[in-house]
Amino acid sequence: TGIFAYLNYKVSRTRKEIFEILVKGLQRLEYRGYDSAGVAVDGNNTEDKERSIQLVKKRGKVKALNEELAKQDEMALETEFETHFGIAHTRWATHGEPNALNSHPQRSNNANEFVVIHNGIITNYKDLKKFLESKGYHFESETDTETIPKLIKYLYDNRESEDVSFTTLVERVVQQLEGAFALVFKSSKFPCEAVATRRGSPLLIGVRSKYKLSTEEIPVLYKTCCSCNILYAKSVAGKSKSSRNDGSTCLHSIGEKKAVEFYFASDASAIIEHTNRVVFLEDDDVAAVVDGQLSIHRVKRSAGEGPVRAIQTLQMELQQIMKGNFSAFMQKEIFEQPESVVNTMRGRVQFETGTVVLGGLKDHLKEIKRCRRLMMIGCGTSYHAAVATRQVLEELTELPVMVELASDFLDRNTPVFRDDVCFFISQSGETADTLMALHYCKNRGALTVGITNTVGSSISRETDCGVHINAGPEIGVASTKAYTSQFVSLCMFGLMMCEDRISMLKRRQEIINGLQSLPDLIKEVLSLDEKIQELAHELFQQRSLLVMGRGYNYATCLEGALKIKEITYMHSEGILAGELKHGPLALIDKQMPVIMILVKDPCYKKCQNALQQVTARQGRPILICSKSDTESMKFAYRTIELPETVDCLQGILSVIPLQLLSFHLAVLRGYDVDCPRNLAKSVTVE
Ligand code: UD1
Ligand code: BG6
Repeated sequence: TGIFAYLNYKVSRTRKEIFEILVKGLQRLEYRGYDSAGVAVDGNNTEDKERSIQLVKKRGKVKALNEELAKQDEMALETEFETHFGIAHTRWATHGEPNALNSHPQRSNNANEFVVIHNGIITNYKDLKKFLESKGYHFESETDTETIPKLIKYLYDNRESEDVSFTTLVERVVQQLEGAFALVFKSSKFPCEAVATRRGSPLLIGVRSKYKLSTEEIPVLYKTCCSCNILYAKSVAGKSKSSRNDGSTCLHSIGEKKAVEFYFASDASAIIEHTNRVVFLEDDDVAAVVDGQLSIHRVKRSAGEGPVRAIQTLQMELQQIMKGNFSAFMQKEIFEQPESVVNTMRGRVQFETGTVVLGGLKDHLKEIKRCRRLMMIGCGTSYHAAVATRQVLEELTELPVMVELASDFLDRNTPVFRDDVCFFISQSGETADTLMALHYCKNRGALTVGITNTVGSSISRETDCGVHINAGPEIGVASTKAYTSQFVSLCMFGLMMCEDRISMLKRRQEIINGLQSLPDLIKEVLSLDEKIQELAHELFQQRSLLVMGRGYNYATCLEGALKIKEITYMHSEGILAGELKHGPLALIDKQMPVIMILVKDPCYKKCQNALQQVTARQGRPILICSKSDTESMKFAYRTIELPETVDCLQGILSVIPLQLLSFHLAVLRGYDVDCPRNLAKSVTVE
């Protein structure tokens, strides 16, 4: 999702220009999410003390929003605003399907008194919603975000004095929020004022002025009183008068009338075309613009946190920012995995108590536990996620687990019964084969469960229940972060299924500990990138690459080989090491590169045998092995050394070197990594 907001202070702009700036900002962010978009701008009563707010929201791409804006006849496009604040958002749904109601800005009430745009996730929104509903606030969307404008309205309605500031209200709001967020607030009660804050999601502010700026460093202002738990206290004791902007504690232009423009965005790509002068907010900063002056507030001092926010000069090109320092979306997505797996687990795994709750499945758990078998159905990478977790699911659920390629499952007219539980795994949630398999199982009365990355997708809507993997939009055609998040989601499902099994206690804890350390271990694997790039230099002119392993890592072989095929166009094959002597061994000779996955798990001894068989035929194995396994390394031609984790999660770590390798091979072979020939991100035909 993307946040963009624009404040012009004493720089006259027509409404048309404001719309254009907002829409363009959103278009720059569209690569991060694009299922719906919206803006909030001022209405026509510009002379009043309170300026009404107009919302325009639309399902679909930013283009659709732009068309909608052109149709707004009651808002004259030529109206001039000397000072104005407009906010805009493009959404990648995580809460509720993509439609106008669920898209942002979200609002406090029908009168649009407070409107908010949000990136991230509010994990305690259900509690907040319950509280606000008990106070008579009525909700209209399915989003977590809507609790925020409702909450600020509640705090405003119950304010202790008339001169409470917008900043103070926002500070009180964020103290009640759990989760990750970047937020920008606009209010009809505080016309032409902007308040923005963040925790865990990025947010920056660009500044542009013809004139010199008052300072290069904005001092951080601390609140003295504000910690009262305002939500549950009946009335608020004491007055917390906010510090007024006095010019020495804030940033403004020192030219004529202090004319200045501010741009708020979740991502520099939306700002860079306007200005390269930016302030990056830090977690829990609350930034406010009042009378064209930007100040930064904090409720509490925290360790290691600087006393000022410096204005920085961005040196980057637009294209560079979009992909960060990465040359392709696939590469960016590979490197996002330490965060995307955390987003998959956020609000679901409680590491302190060892509990796992998937909100989308908890009401169906009883029924699932009674089933005759689990069927996991998907295509491509999504199918591999099922192969990867089959063993741990069999272990934790003690149910038979079938894994199926959707097309083959349909070709076979596979028998399905009412007491089957069928999982449909799909990043996009739109893959035709998977969707048809879903219809097939539904018709036979099975309980259907979706595992998808796309809220509002066909699979998400048509399944009885399911899990959104919350990995964020995946743009590269070759799936990477969605795979590891599907993997984590299926493991969480297994853990949830055996919560009440005493015999499983130790194993569960081991896996939960493994999940907790996953982000750090993924980072460690990603640090091997340079070494893997060197390996790619040795391999990129080969015609074929074999990838071999077994047990928990068989899926890694299939997935690694698929990545290589998809984007490098080399022949590649994932081979089950147990099958080596039944055929594939004939392929082995001095020339054939063989990647072997050999980690310390129950198949370790058997994999070592396979390694011996390969070296005995003068094969040159490239080992992906545990970093402590110096014994096996002796037999290797090259090694990639992985940190160790619990056996059933090892596949998350072992797939990453192959993602990186395929990426580097494709670059060296000169191919477009994000758009491989003949393939599409979402295949909606049979
Ligand atoms: C929900 C919120 C999540 C928030 C959490 C806090 C949504 C979409 N998600 O997540 O952002 O952090 O509460 O408690 O509002 N579903 C299907 N098929 C699928 C996927 C999901 O039917 O393929 C259904 C689920 O059964 C559930 C709903 O969609 O009813 C939302 O699923 P999910 O986002 O996974 O639920 P939570 O984790 O509870
Ligand atoms: C393919 C894509 O066509 O669809 C693969 O090229 C993907 O990368 C497969 O794994 C399944 O897609 P989805 O969206 O159902 O997970």
